[in-house]
Amino acid sequence: MTTETEATAAASGAGATARFRENKQFAANTSQERVSTLANRVIKAINDTVLDEKVTYDEYNAFKAWLIRVGEDGEWPLFLDVWVEHSIVEVAEANRHGSKGAIEGPYYIPNAPVLNNPATLPMREDEPGTPLLFQGQVRNVAGEPLAGALIELWHADDAGFYSQFAPGLPEWNLRGSIIADEQGNFQINTMQPAPYQIPTDGACGALIAAAGWHAWRPAHLHFKVSAAEHQLITTQLYFEGGEHVSDDIASAVKPELVLAPTERADRQGREVTYDFILDPQD
Ligand code: DHB
Ligand code: FE
Repeated sequence: MTTETEATAAASGAGATARFRENKQFAANTSQERVSTLANRVIKAINDTVLDEKVTYDEYNAFKAWLIRVGEDGEWPLFLDVWVEHSIVEVAEANRHGSKGAIEGPYYIPNAPVLNNPATLPMREDEPGTPLLFQGQVRNVAGEPLAGALIELWHADDAGFYSQFAPGLPEWNLRGSIIADEQGNFQINTMQPAPYQIPTDGACGALIAAAGWHAWRPAHLHFKVSAAEHQLITTQLYFEGGEHVSDDIASAVKPELVLAPTERADRQGREVTYDFILDPQD
């Protein structure tokens, strides 16, 4: 049987590309003027780099070959989510007052199993790692609880792999859609995720190696939190003192998003409380 540790960039890239095409509905209503402005700026940024850095023909051809390979490996979602999405988030939440957002990344899958509160994420019988109880409340910016808010949570396992993108994992492993109770409260039992390494055997890995960078994101939990008449937030939470919290390759860590779990009274793992604050729909 194939196991998760045999994951390849080509397979997870192909999965991420297919998922992007399936899930994302983007309205192509950008005006001609706007397309022209944006395309001109990107092209100018590349040309400025060539002129400032005196890029050679060899370097130009290496760049061209690499771009071709990003597509062949299906790694455009990975590349963009690691190196660009954090700025998109910054623009998107400039006028929000609730909880901070963070990048979605390439591994979200909608319609994970719905779980009532208190919930335990789907996991293997012998799911490795340290149990983590994640609890809190969903409120609006006025401090009122949002009854029945939806918390979608997905994260990597104790080896740093995501279900449906690495082989050998049950379909919905460590993915769930939790409905908060009448007071907006939620309690979710899961397993502490491990840091995540960008696949090293694809085009993004080749860039990281050629540039002498590291390929790591700190351990993180991904969320989409929503409630009627409120803006959905997409965010991530990290763990204090964890590896790469201060040098995330995807530049997606913010101080407000770092959790400090404590040992549980029953010593059966760790627990932490975090409240999500949603802005009203505008
Ligand atoms: C990537 C993976 C993640 O888990 C994430 O949160 C962001 C980016 C990636 O491989 O591109
Ligand atoms: Fe992730």
